[in-house]
Amino acid sequence: MLDHDILIIGAGLAGMRAALSAKELGADVAVVSKVHPVRSHSNAAQGGINAALTDRGDDWRDHAYDTIKGSDFLGDQDAIALMCQEAGSEVIAMEHMGAIFNRDEDGRLGTRAFGGQREARTFFVADFTGQALLHVLYEQILKAGALVYEEWFVLSLIVRDGKCGGAVMMDIRSGRIEVVRAKAVILAAGGLGRVFEPSTNALICTGDGMSLGYRVGASLMDMEMVQYHPTTLKGSGVLISEAARGEGAYLLNSDNDRFMLKYAPEFKELASRDVVSRCEQTEINEGRGLDGCVLLDVRHLGEKYISERLSQIRELAMDFANVDMVKEPVPIMPGMHYQMGGVAANVDGETGVPGLYAAGEVACVSVHGGNRLGANSLLDTLVFGRRSGVHAAEMVKSTQHLSVDDSAADDDKNNIQKLLANDKNESFGQIRLDMGTAMKEHFGVFRDENGMREGIEKIESVKKRAEDVYVADKGSTFNTNLLFTLELGFMLECAESIAVSAATRTESRGAHTRTDLPDRDDANWLKHILVSQDEDGGQELSYKDVVITDWEPVVRQY
Ligand code: FUM
Repeated sequence: MLDHDILIIGAGLAGMRAALSAKELGADVAVVSKVHPVRSHSNAAQGGINAALTDRGDDWRDHAYDTIKGSDFLGDQDAIALMCQEAGSEVIAMEHMGAIFNRDEDGRLGTRAFGGQREARTFFVADFTGQALLHVLYEQILKAGALVYEEWFVLSLIVRDGKCGGAVMMDIRSGRIEVVRAKAVILAAGGLGRVFEPSTNALICTGDGMSLGYRVGASLMDMEMVQYHPTTLKGSGVLISEAARGEGAYLLNSDNDRFMLKYAPEFKELASRDVVSRCEQTEINEGRGLDGCVLLDVRHLGEKYISERLSQIRELAMDFANVDMVKEPVPIMPGMHYQMGGVAANVDGETGVPGLYAAGEVACVSVHGGNRLGANSLLDTLVFGRRSGVHAAEMVKSTQHLSVDDSAADDDKNNIQKLLANDKNESFGQIRLDMGTAMKEHFGVFRDENGMREGIEKIESVKKRAEDVYVADKGSTFNTNLLFTLELGFMLECAESIAVSAATRTESRGAHTRTDLPDRDDANWLKHILVSQDEDGGQELSYKDVVITDWEPVVRQY
């Protein structure tokens, strides 16, 4: 058995920021990740990180209001205010740790415009900001002496008398299963993007953390709020950063018409993501698309500018769509990008299960509500990663380990034996694809009652089939066949909670757009939907009012 004060599940930005802050307070910290830390999905965050710096004439209150409006008034305003107040110090802290942000002509930190915001307040490193920050934080946690279990897969959380006391995990290289006792566990395992197909998310984004928390009594909140990013590459769905539009790119339909001028006369291509995705999908549905896409045109920016600031997306478009954006417009479509919902947590990461914290995309502190602003996700990971680490480090000072021994791994070992012994013939890959396709079809940009009912039936049917998955590889070394099967279980639970929450919300708000109920209904739905597991393993719904402080909901216009 292994022992740590704090076990952090996930080594993306939220996990490593939590590790660093907890280490600084003297805690014994270990981070576990199913991939090497710098392969975490934070790597894929391209465009930047938002902060309103006062010495630039910006104000956190303006950032907060843009975020609240972007959330379609579902975000909790106290949490949003706190995130925006702490944004500047986080960006500066990362800069001091070694992140080489782009500079403006005066040599000061430079910004670019991003969607749904009235100020250009997105700090960036070309179009690979997440990757840059990830490398800096990895260096920092190594320097601070945090232990990293890299390429270990977490099977379950250990809970005794309602308190979390560690986790059971498997070394992917050897198949060895270990119990880790910890006084605090921080879920920082990222999102669930691959529950949808296609998605901008890495193949590792399978909702593990959300499902692990849900299985031990944490609630999942705002799960119906799934972000479709307006610019994902034709075919593969690879992310083409909003930075392109921030730098001045246009969206064109098949008539060569810059259609955002008619839908969002003020913000145009830089309206909120849910708005732009709906406009694109409308153009496509009404016959003004090109093979299921519209076009992103950056040619007027010129090769030099594109090479300096958008080099990664230029390469991605060349590699995955054979299009050089310097010479021709890029075919793009709305694509699943981010889960606004997640494990319900407060601003210190507490989940309601003592000892269990959550931060980053896995969590729902409710700072994104119905629609996240671009470049607020990196901010969320750092602010709430840091705060969770601090809170957990203080908490463990006066906490004893729970009474846990190696038998805590028995259920997981039995479950794995059962999976390996299964002689049925369903393929995890086919089920995963069928689930992802059903989620896109029924819970994508536009939804309606009948479609969602059909979607729920499809999810129930794939869930049934998943009981018969055949794991062909019976070995213990790098058994990815087994891992993908275990991930499928996490994904199906997430899919179900998205579907049931979406079918419950009888209005349109943010990314949850119902063609049969097109209006926002503040009288009845200024509240969060929470899903938790009941005693029989079924889903139980509850509700929580949105926190409104200074900003009354108004009609959202761009
Ligand atoms: O478009 C982008 O660069 C994505 C950023 C984000 O999701 O925050």
